[in-house]
Amino acid sequence: MGTSGSKGIDGAGSADAAGGGAAGGGGEAGEGGHAPEAWHGGAQLYVSLKMENARIIGDLVPHVYGSEPIIGSWDPARALAMERELASLWTLSFVVPPDHETVDFKFLLKPKEDTTPCIIEEGPPRLLTGGMLEGDVRVALFKLNGDDEVLEFRVFNKADIVSPLELAASWRVYKENFQPSRVRGIPDVSINVAPTNAPEEGSAATLELDLEHYVVPTPTAPPNEYAANLAATPASLIQTGALWTNDVLLSDGIQSPSTVSADFEGHSNHKKNIEAWATDSARKIQTSGLIESKSVGTFTSLQKPDGQKGLFVDRGVGFPKLPKSSSTCSLASGLSFGSAKTMPEAAGAVAAAAVADRLHGSKEDRKLAIALVGLPARGKTFTAVKLTRYLRWLGHETRHFNVGKYRRLKHGANQAADFFRDDNPEGIEARNEVAALAMEDMIDWMHGGGQVGIFDATNSTTKRRRMLMKMAEGNCKIIFLETICNDPLIIETNIRLKIQQSPDYADQPDYEAGLQDFMERLANYEKVYEPVGEGSYIKMIDMVKGQGGQLQVNNISGYLPGRIVFFLVNSHLTPRPILLTRHGESLHNVRGRVGGDTVLSEKGELYAKKLASFIEKRLKCEKTATIWTSTLQRTILTASPIVGFPKIQWRALDEINSGVCDGMTYEEIKKIMPEEFESRKKDKLRYRYPRGESYLDVIQRLEPVIIELERQRAPVVVISHQAVLRALYAYFADRPLREVPDIEMPLHTIIEIQMGVTGVEEKRYKLMD
Ligand code: F6P
Repeated sequence: MGTSGSKGIDGAGSADAAGGGAAGGGGEAGEGGHAPEAWHGGAQLYVSLKMENARIIGDLVPHVYGSEPIIGSWDPARALAMERELASLWTLSFVVPPDHETVDFKFLLKPKEDTTPCIIEEGPPRLLTGGMLEGDVRVALFKLNGDDEVLEFRVFNKADIVSPLELAASWRVYKENFQPSRVRGIPDVSINVAPTNAPEEGSAATLELDLEHYVVPTPTAPPNEYAANLAATPASLIQTGALWTNDVLLSDGIQSPSTVSADFEGHSNHKKNIEAWATDSARKIQTSGLIESKSVGTFTSLQKPDGQKGLFVDRGVGFPKLPKSSSTCSLASGLSFGSAKTMPEAAGAVAAAAVADRLHGSKEDRKLAIALVGLPARGKTFTAVKLTRYLRWLGHETRHFNVGKYRRLKHGANQAADFFRDDNPEGIEARNEVAALAMEDMIDWMHGGGQVGIFDATNSTTKRRRMLMKMAEGNCKIIFLETICNDPLIIETNIRLKIQQSPDYADQPDYEAGLQDFMERLANYEKVYEPVGEGSYIKMIDMVKGQGGQLQVNNISGYLPGRIVFFLVNSHLTPRPILLTRHGESLHNVRGRVGGDTVLSEKGELYAKKLASFIEKRLKCEKTATIWTSTLQRTILTASPIVGFPKIQWRALDEINSGVCDGMTYEEIKKIMPEEFESRKKDKLRYRYPRGESYLDVIQRLEPVIIELERQRAPVVVISHQAVLRALYAYFADRPLREVPDIEMPLHTIIEIQMGVTGVEEKRYKLMD
């Protein structure tokens, strides 16, 4: 009895401290063994017998035979085959009670599933007590070819304490893995043409005629706001305390006050110039005194002198003053999301590229400015917003700087077309000034940790672009992104939206007057417009429809620019809905178990029918649509009643891989792997399940899905899983990565995302509880 003679693989006592070595049958703690209290609760010993030999002889496989009841029989023909664990290592594992009767056994060699020839090891039987081999564990000697050849195997064993819960969990996983899948044989691309079991009138699966009946409020709707307003708050204007519009301050929520970092040589001088300019401007401006600013989520709450608080939306009227004390003005500060010191909040390719850039790239190359170029109403802001959203979602610290927002803040929103005339030197000077300010802020922000700045202005002359290139020198790489659109219908739509939504025309109640002014402004720009031909650039010509057009690329290289080009090639603004839903309730959902590949519960099956009926009604006017599922049964079964649309299985849509925790309840994880449970709780975004995935891993593998969703021109229904849908939804709703793991994603609810010219809109339908 005891463990002293047992040897682990490294020759040390094999009762491993973490996994639990075996104590003697009487419960005493031997060397590396466990105190008696470890045996609480019906724990068992998980015993692994191991044999090691680097020389493999023919098809001989090590076997074990020995006494009942554990080994089974002294009949060599019924010996138990050992499993090959490594090239030279063989194992046989079994479970015994800690106080099991001594087992005597021997090793033998024979071909698998064959009775002869059979070579039995030399020497007396071996004894196993309390899960461990007795005495000094001798090597196993086999005599081959008479006595001519001797084969030696190292022998050792290991015993771990396992609780009944652990045993049950692994048994359940084993059983589930061996249950044949109900969706085997369904090809990756399929379509049902005839109704399988269409719900009968009046059955639980029939839906109300009017789908509005199922609409439920959206918990946090994506901001329905004029896109330029959502660009970064003009930090320089605010920090100097000079300028505020009457009611605007919209922050993008991850902005911390710009700071000039030590490695930013020569920058502070420039900053002083701007401060001087701003202070000077402030003197000229009538102020009306807002007295406090606090960050509230993604918006900024201001308190007016009369105590009135609220969220203020940019309409660009008047210039109330912000007090000089800048500490009260910091916008959504303190969120060190991807700061300069930390690695990016990203995994896989994005992290690899960031590390490579840091290690090998020049300082300048690590920061990227994408400067839009184009006439007004050519979709620049639309492109800027989309690109910002995509890069942020991938984990790149990205921010949109809209020069129009700076202009409105400094010069007022209601500037007439004359302000934009090419023979108005003050107007030109004023516009260049705000462009320089925005560029300054952007570079400032990059030095505080920002990675990609999207610089949104017309930048329509070579002179202006030269200024930007000069400012970028030594600070960041600059790529011009020119949007050219010759389609009169698209231009007309853009112009209409501009007049209806832009703060520039908020004070103009007469649409026709607004239109006339805007057309004059456009003509002013057209007179001086010079297409890009210098530096690094991407030119998108008539690509907004997602069909045809032209993309020209000049002097573009590197990971991020390459990704940007790929994204732009695939995105367009044809309106179409994307419907996101989790599968119907599964058996694991009922039991509160994570992962697995179980079938639907009765309730889940009912949802599948309701969903089919919903899709039939919702997409009845669409010429075509596709249904995407994961490769797991619960999504394929949820899609199965849907008729008439092609269904595609995507591995990338499979649920987050919960690795060793697959099939467990959260309670079990907490009990059996408390450290894992705590680590996940602390950082759910980055936490990677042992042998599984993290949310960041999921985001990485979803990138092709996002690109394809962008590229599709027809509606898509995505039937997937909680974690995956959180990640996809975060992209469309522009939610920060840190929020992804906690986004609400209820069962039996459809989230409809409408992609269109004005951005992304969302609607939710709850078909059942
Ligand atoms: O519980 C359902 C489920 O889809 C699991 O399969 C998955 O592990 C889990 O949700 C993901 O959610 P969370 O990240 O909150 O654990």
